[in-house]
Amino acid sequence: MKGVPASAPEAALRVRDLVAGYTPEVDILRGIAIDVARGEIVTVLGPNGAGKSTLIKTIAGLVAVRAGRIELFGDDIVGVEAHDMVRRGLAYVPQTDNVFVRMSVQENLEMGASARADRGEIEADLGRMYELFPRLKERRRQPAGTLSGGERQMVAVARALMARPVVLMLDEPSAGLSPKLVGVVFERVRDIRSLGVTMLIVEQNAKAALAISDRGYVLAEGREQVSGAAGELLANPEVGALYLGMRRGLA
Ligand SMILES: Nc1ncnc2c1ncn2[C@@H]1O[C@H](COP(=O)(O)OP(=O)(O)OP(=O)(O)O)[C@@H](O)[C@H]1O
Ligand SMILES: [Mg+2]
Repeated sequence: MKGVPASAPEAALRVRDLVAGYTPEVDILRGIAIDVARGEIVTVLGPNGAGKSTLIKTIAGLVAVRAGRIELFGDDIVGVEAHDMVRRGLAYVPQTDNVFVRMSVQENLEMGASARADRGEIEADLGRMYELFPRLKERRRQPAGTLSGGERQMVAVARALMARPVVLMLDEPSAGLSPKLVGVVFERVRDIRSLGVTMLIVEQNAKAALAISDRGYVLAEGREQVSGAAGELLANPEVGALYLGMRRGLA
């Protein structure tokens, strides 16, 4: 299970020997390797402080890379500015503060398309977002700051999709949601994949995330400890031990 297979040419994201951190003295990521193939849903799990958010912030160009490689469809993207990542097809939904609270739902979604010039297509995509998240259509004139936690997550995901990303990274999309809404969010994640979007997801909710994922990685202390097919990880006792301090698997 440990180790990463040789990357296929259609790798969407390929991370190798990645070392990164917020201050020069402390490395948070200490040699991470992960792969996401085109069309895959890959989940990253791990205890609090493992470096999950740091990993996706680093891929998104928001944390300094000290060593290693990050490739998006074979192009080295280390050093690319965060705002240029969107143009290259990589979108990111942060763990917190991921909507513009004073703007309406619709303005938030339009912001997501701000790098696009195809006005007619943007209108069509707005319609698609309201089909994916009917609740947002009802609330489209309302300031995003007045929405519930689950509705805000929907706005954040829809805004990211408005950029028409090829790869979408989600940091804990189910955080703070009721079990029912967790199910809804992951159903939407599946729908988004069927639109042709590749996804890298960070989650605390291991069972729900692995249930809709192809593969997963478990991080601890800035390194990947275990990786494998989602079903294998669910049944792997080592994952339960690493992730939840359990003796047995998650299933
Ligand atoms: N802006 C920052 N400046 C300095 N250190 C940070 C910063 N953000 C995170 N860290 C540190 O980096 C480490 C990894 O944090 P990170 O947010 O990546 O963890 P995580 O796996 O996403 O945890 P959680 O499950 O709690 O979201 C932690 O020790 C944290 O204190
Ligand atoms: Mg985090």
